[in-house]
Amino acid sequence: MSANDKIQIGVIGAGNIGNVHIQEFLQLSDAAVTAVTDVYHPLAIARAEEYNIPNVYTTYQELLQDPSVDAVIVAVSNDAHAPIAIEALQAGKHVLLEKPMAVNAASAKEIVKARQKSGKVLMMSHQMRWESLNMQVKEQIDKGALGSIYNVKTGWMRRKGIPGWGSWFTQMNKSGGGPLIDIGVHMLDLSLHLMGNPKPVSVFGTTYAEFGPKKRGIGTWGKTDWNGFYDVEDLATALIKLDNGSTLSLDVSWAANTDFIDNGPYIYLMGSEGGASLRAGRGTLHTELFDRTADVDLTMDSNDEGPRQRMSRHFLECIREHREPLTSAMSGLTNSLVLEAIYESSRTGQLVTLDWSLD
Ligand SMILES: NC(=O)c1ccc[n+]([C@@H]2O[C@H](COP(=O)([O-])OP(=O)(O)OC[C@H]3O[C@@H](n4cnc5c(N)ncnc54)[C@H](O)[C@@H]3O)[C@@H](O)[C@H]2O)c1
Repeated sequence: MSANDKIQIGVIGAGNIGNVHIQEFLQLSDAAVTAVTDVYHPLAIARAEEYNIPNVYTTYQELLQDPSVDAVIVAVSNDAHAPIAIEALQAGKHVLLEKPMAVNAASAKEIVKARQKSGKVLMMSHQMRWESLNMQVKEQIDKGALGSIYNVKTGWMRRKGIPGWGSWFTQMNKSGGGPLIDIGVHMLDLSLHLMGNPKPVSVFGTTYAEFGPKKRGIGTWGKTDWNGFYDVEDLATALIKLDNGSTLSLDVSWAANTDFIDNGPYIYLMGSEGGASLRAGRGTLHTELFDRTADVDLTMDSNDEGPRQRMSRHFLECIREHREPLTSAMSGLTNSLVLEAIYESSRTGQLVTLDWSLD
């Protein structure tokens, strides 16, 4: 930390989401973005010039050797999450790690072990937990308003949203998967959080690729590379059983012939005393009153600072107060285990039981 006690942040990966993180941390008075790196060096230089970042490094290893950097944001392609996060922890840095934690559960376990050894903060970047409507629903759940939540339906069915066709996003060896690992991980993470973190036990799922291989369903995020290839799924569907007897069904697509809930994220929570739904930018609580169904719409403050600001502040608070982040390393591993089990179930056609051992 510097003399004026700001937490000094280094950004590893200056692409789309790295840029978003820089903008969020620049708004927080107790942090300073002091270093940046990207394998595509001109991009790192451009970000440094745009945001007045004093140190630009050619490699992430050089950035990690800078003793003035307290914490790093890892915002690179999925295959590089685990090696960089582990080296950063070993170098004594706190880590804000983009989702998904890793391309497979084995690498996620290695990150968990490295974090335990280092004693540093490792926080997963799941901003949806910090959205106002989602937080309001969580508050009601914590007060017991929904009773026991026994069934949840969640998903994100994009109609035409394949990101960066041919780039790392659509190459299995670099991404670890398609929409399941890209956007499904957000919905899984948020659902388990709202359900009170029951432990996933077993999974049955199937994945499909009907659009990507035909170069259809292409969206606007990321850069298309026609010299690249597409070998990931474009739709996944799964049923997850939790250790408290509850069930979670998950449906995601990057591309599909559907117009399901405005092609956006959704969660329907069904509890013994009440329910809640979050979809199409709306949040509603459901119950039964006077022998009739009754719904209460949730409202949002028009001056809301936004989920990413709250998430970034939480990261800084966890560093200062030596706290476990809400989106901890274990929550990242839980998501990775479920995602991997869905892929395995699709391959084998069998129900898959999760392997929680850390070895
Ligand atoms: N939380 C969210 O809402 C959200 C949104 C988008 C992306 N993401 C995640 O963020 C990550 C990056 O996604 P993106 O859309 O910004 O991709 P991107 O391709 O725009 O940016 C990734 C950057 O990382 C750089 N890079 C790759 N390997 C590197 C290395 N070893 N060292 C330094 N730089 C390296 C690339 O050159 C590129 O500039 C992915 O894991 C993605 O899943 C999260």
